[in-house]
Amino acid sequence: MPALVLFGGGGDLAMRMLLPSLYFLERDGLLPEGLKIIGAARQASTRDEFLARVRDSVTGKAQAEDAWSEDAFARLTDRIDYVAVDATSPDSLKTLKDKVGDGAVTHFLAVSPSLYAGIVKALKAAGLAGPDAKIVLEKPVGRDLKTFLEIDDAVAHAFRESQVFRIDHYLGKETVQNLLALRFGNTVFEPLWNNLSIDHVQITVGETVGVGDRWPYYDEYGALRDMVQNHMLQLLCLVAMEPPADLEPESVRNEKVKVLRSLRRVTHEEAERVTVRGQYTPGEVEGQRVRGYVEERGQSTDTETFVAIRAEIGNWRWAGVPFFMRTGKRLPEKRTEIVIQFKPVPHSIFGSGERGAIQDNRLIIELQPEEDISLTVMNKRPGLDQTMQLQPISMSLSWGQGAGDRPPRRRIAYERLLLDAMAGDSTLFVRRDEAEEAWKWVDQVAEAWSDAGFRPLDYVAGTWGPAAADTLLSRSGRQWNTGDE
Ligand code: BG6
Repeated sequence: MPALVLFGGGGDLAMRMLLPSLYFLERDGLLPEGLKIIGAARQASTRDEFLARVRDSVTGKAQAEDAWSEDAFARLTDRIDYVAVDATSPDSLKTLKDKVGDGAVTHFLAVSPSLYAGIVKALKAAGLAGPDAKIVLEKPVGRDLKTFLEIDDAVAHAFRESQVFRIDHYLGKETVQNLLALRFGNTVFEPLWNNLSIDHVQITVGETVGVGDRWPYYDEYGALRDMVQNHMLQLLCLVAMEPPADLEPESVRNEKVKVLRSLRRVTHEEAERVTVRGQYTPGEVEGQRVRGYVEERGQSTDTETFVAIRAEIGNWRWAGVPFFMRTGKRLPEKRTEIVIQFKPVPHSIFGSGERGAIQDNRLIIELQPEEDISLTVMNKRPGLDQTMQLQPISMSLSWGQGAGDRPPRRRIAYERLLLDAMAGDSTLFVRRDEAEEAWKWVDQVAEAWSDAGFRPLDYVAGTWGPAAADTLLSRSGRQWNTGDE
């Protein structure tokens, strides 16, 4: 029988994401037959205590989706077991080994990365790292290239690369995969997908939440390492990569790594011009007064809660096309989107604005709060005006729209990733060399900041970051998508 072991089974990630994901998969009959799910954690809880916590976390999520089923939950609990272990001790892992049995096992490490090396070593010593075993690593793996390699080398000692699944949950989001369908399942976009037609690309991951209780982790990483090194660079890769030969994991990942290698390094001299660091001060978000990061943290700190970067990809397709990335906590909206901004028409036959200004075409791939892909095009305002009037319209390219279908429930990104990892499909996981390249690029930004002593600029919670983030675009006559046009 296959087994899934959740190390850190009682922790935040397991309770908030992994167990609810497993519940939804169970409900839809998608879990592998006979799968055993074993929560492994240090706490000396009983199985019943663990199940009570699982019930609490799952019911909340399922009821919010109108998807609660007592039967499905009962089927899930039949699979679940709990074991209290010190996962870094081979002796202590013996009980776990007995519970796992002889089937293929997937270990999911939802624990602090500082424990990764110790756990993989112990798994190997305990005979839990055989050829059928797989290991899933949550980010962050390391804090820079050096620490990434230290941890990853330890992992490589126990598991082959094909057994290692480095999670970036953004790759499990439906719209991210839809981006691949849009680019490579159609002929209309790809001929335009280059520096001849595209002016620039924007990637925004805006969050309204603050750092709050997570500061012990966050203060060490900051937005650059927490979001840019992984989620944002992964999105950039999917936008920028060349068409792979097929959807095989190696084909896709080969193309992504080429993009990362083509990213121009940010030099110390230009860092001030092409990067922005920010930190939120008290303000108002979604109608609520909120504290600044310093107040949450309890003392002043240099950690950035906002970052914006103008990145350049040095290859034939993208030379001269800036990729603007921005992400931050305590921004006005939870909005994640990729904006492909096309160039203006080469010559307007409509005069200079008297028929309505021509808005350049824009493709918006929205991941959150809604999942949608829309294209802004110009058309004629209906009617018998004497002078033809133009207007921009936004065409939704999303599935189901207009077809009268009810969109399927939006799945938690981990649902897909858990299934893929158990099935051994690594297409949507990050390969070692990708993580390595991403760290190299992020490290030189971090170094430039620390060498030049760049402190984060203040921004009031509830605004879109420091004014310098707007200047990053306005300097070249561009502006961030506000969603209002
Ligand atoms: C996590 C980061 O990886 O992604 C968090 O550690 C961030 O800081 C989260 O809040 C955002 O994920 P999502 O899916 O809510 O956009």
